[in-house]
Amino acid sequence: MREIRLVTVPDGLPKPTDFEIAEAPVPEPGPGEVLVRTTAFHVFAALRTLLGGTVPGAPFPGIEPDGTLFGAAVGEVASGPGLAPGTPVLHMKGWREYAAVPVAELRVLDGTLPDPVHHLGYAPLAYAALTRDAGVRPGDTVFVTGGAGGVGSAAGQIARLLGAGRVVGSTGSAEKAARMTAELGYDAVVLRTSAGFDADLAEAALGGIDVLIDNVGGDQLRAALDLANPGARFVLVGALDGQLDPGGNGRTSPVTLDAYRIILTRATLRGVAGPPGPEAEARLGAWLRSGELVLPDVRFTGIEQAPRALHELLAGHHLGTVVVEL
Ligand SMILES: NC(=O)c1ccc[n+]([C@@H]2O[C@H](COP(=O)([O-])OP(=O)(O)OC[C@H]3O[C@@H](n4cnc5c(N)ncnc54)[C@H](OP(=O)(O)O)[C@@H]3O)[C@@H](O)[C@H]2O)c1
Repeated sequence: MREIRLVTVPDGLPKPTDFEIAEAPVPEPGPGEVLVRTTAFHVFAALRTLLGGTVPGAPFPGIEPDGTLFGAAVGEVASGPGLAPGTPVLHMKGWREYAAVPVAELRVLDGTLPDPVHHLGYAPLAYAALTRDAGVRPGDTVFVTGGAGGVGSAAGQIARLLGAGRVVGSTGSAEKAARMTAELGYDAVVLRTSAGFDADLAEAALGGIDVLIDNVGGDQLRAALDLANPGARFVLVGALDGQLDPGGNGRTSPVTLDAYRIILTRATLRGVAGPPGPEAEARLGAWLRSGELVLPDVRFTGIEQAPRALHELLAGHHLGTVVVEL
């Protein structure tokens, strides 16, 4: 079988030559493990943070040279105790054609989400951030930074479905901005590359922000706080600004905020990490089946495409969740 390994810790953002497609024996499952044939795995921005180290307290270890990459994957049981061959499962040993997975570390998929690939995206996280963490209310103005990405392409639509009054997103290109307003429920989109970002955001948000779903941090977080309405709820999901900074190591994301803005608006800033809770999938599954929600993705075919897929994701070429299908 084949798997993707790190060759060298990237200098700056990873490029396809930092990885190799290695051959390895199909693993023998140990006690309590099953052999899973991978059908698709997730290509995601946080890998940049994990190549050569990790953030203290993060749930995942760093990946060192010769190590195999990992991440969310869906597949079917090939052999092993307790689960019939062909059972669809979700696990975290992506970036390889076969994986020996402890039964305790996999989830059997029950079809709540109509397509197994939907389990590779972050729609449940977006739902939890908007409901559990931000308590979005009808009429709220919601700003989603990184609004075209894996989290953001779901968050804008879900905010709309939950009754938000105005939904604004940010992205890196005019082409993606056009798709976000046409297909993903956004009323307005601001370009992160604009020299007049603050003024663009004020115009797009009609002056004030009630809820921020922040995938970026940095100057976008600062600009959003400058526009916070009284009682604003800011939910910090990701830190793409530092994560994808070619000059850093992707493991810090510093930002300077004006404390007076937090005090005088009584805004809350809350970080989100960990599982989204059981309610999310049932609600998302219903919206997907009724056609009220679409989860866009870009699918590469063949494990040999994975290094290029990661490179293109980090360069901002794609909209939605990026996956490799095997
Ligand atoms: N807290 C949690 O539990 C949790 C769980 C999952 C993910 N996350 C985090 O949430 C964040 C979003 O995840 P995702 O999968 O949705 O990522 P993503 O948006 O798919 O990440 C790739 C995108 O980042 C944007 N980008 C590239 N360079 C950038 C820069 N210098 N500054 C700002 N944006 C840049 C590009 O989009 P545009 O060109 O459209 O801007 C690119 O397409 C990540 O930081 C991820 O690690 C957190």
